[in-house]
Amino acid sequence: MSHIAEAIKIRNTTFKNRLIKGAMSEALANYAGQPNQLHLGLYETWAKGHLGCAITGNVMVDFRAKNEPGVVVVETERDLAKLKEWADIGKKYGMVQLIQLSHPGRQCPKGLNKETVSASAVPFSPMLATTFGTPRELHEEEILEIIQRFAESARICEKAGFDGIQLHGAHGYLISQFLSPLTNKRQDQWGGSIENRMRFLLGIYKAVRLTTSDNFIVSVKLNSADFQRGGISEEEVVAVFKAIDTAGIDLIEISGGTYEAPAMAGAKADKRKVSTIAREAYFLDFAEKIRKEVKCHLMVTGGFRTAKGMNDALDSGACEFIGIARPLAVETDVCERLIAGQDVRYAIAPIKTGIPFVDKMAIMEILWYAAQFKAIGEGKQPNPKLSPLKVFFHYATNNVKAVIRGRVNSRKSA
Ligand SMILES: Cc1cc2nc3c(=O)[nH]c(=O)nc-3n(C[C@H](O)[C@H](O)[C@H](O)COP(=O)(O)O)c2cc1C
Repeated sequence: MSHIAEAIKIRNTTFKNRLIKGAMSEALANYAGQPNQLHLGLYETWAKGHLGCAITGNVMVDFRAKNEPGVVVVETERDLAKLKEWADIGKKYGMVQLIQLSHPGRQCPKGLNKETVSASAVPFSPMLATTFGTPRELHEEEILEIIQRFAESARICEKAGFDGIQLHGAHGYLISQFLSPLTNKRQDQWGGSIENRMRFLLGIYKAVRLTTSDNFIVSVKLNSADFQRGGISEEEVVAVFKAIDTAGIDLIEISGGTYEAPAMAGAKADKRKVSTIAREAYFLDFAEKIRKEVKCHLMVTGGFRTAKGMNDALDSGACEFIGIARPLAVETDVCERLIAGQDVRYAIAPIKTGIPFVDKMAIMEILWYAAQFKAIGEGKQPNPKLSPLKVFFHYATNNVKAVIRGRVNSRKSA
């Protein structure tokens, strides 16, 4: 039997195999951030494909801080009924489900929210500054309020019937902004030493434990590195992993990068050591190192494409779970195939329209994958050959129509 197919237990929850879907923002919610039938259809399809565990796309803990228009927001019990239906899918098919809770901090596109906030008011690099504004530094009372928001969202997720949550502490989102000295320039107890910079993450973890039961799984996704000069050092990353492990975390997902250095999608693959390339996953070297330092379960996400690569990673003892994301958007039955010893069928490449200014905006990945998620949610087959250019024109036309509709409506009501 392949190692991928082995069951494993965390707290009282059994994972029927070692395959976990890494979070992918579905971009399917309405502007109010409500989940709908498309989410249910999408997750049911993955559940039918023998996925062991689904980590949802990031779900916002604050409506005022959304990272994109179609993201789900859980800040009150407003959508409890729909969330229960979502959680029930996991129970029906034996697929564990964790909701990824997130606050994007500075990584919110301009115009989407009234303002953006972060650990410190650090601007983006000139290339990204056209899309992302400079955030305002959070006051201490606001930091404490955000910590409580994570705890309240987690409580609602458990009430809805989800098996656990994952804190999004990677990819340059707010928790990671606090961890990195590039984005955290604070002089108070939330900045400076790594002990201070991790206070926000540990505060959220402890607050979540207080609002949820002992059976509830709490995970965190953390960067192995920012891949930016002057970013968090490896020594500091190890200190964060050890501290959250000692605090009692159940599972750490290892990733890397930020919007400014997107290593999570393989952008730094050329800089990887030859040994890592041979094992296909981007962050396995780091997993091997950290495995010796922590006792919690580890999951590695990014680049896994073959059954052998996954089984080898599990056999080596570097991690207990394999994270896969993009392949699941184009091959919903990929888990069945991997368990049977077959590989991912389609090559996963960056999504490009060929129009330089569009490709620079980093919007195409979200739009193209969202189009696949919508099709799957509607019960259709995904289309790996879908033209990015077609997706972009569809998006642009809809936007123009929305603007015209808005103008006509405002004239009528004037
Ligand atoms: C469209 C899209 C949306 C994503 N959204 C999230 C997200 O909400 N949270 C997160 O932690 N990672 C997100 N990711 C990153 C994935 O979880 C994963 O780390 C990355 O795609 C590498 O894994 P892969 O090579 O198996 O695709 C997203 C990736 C894509 C392509």
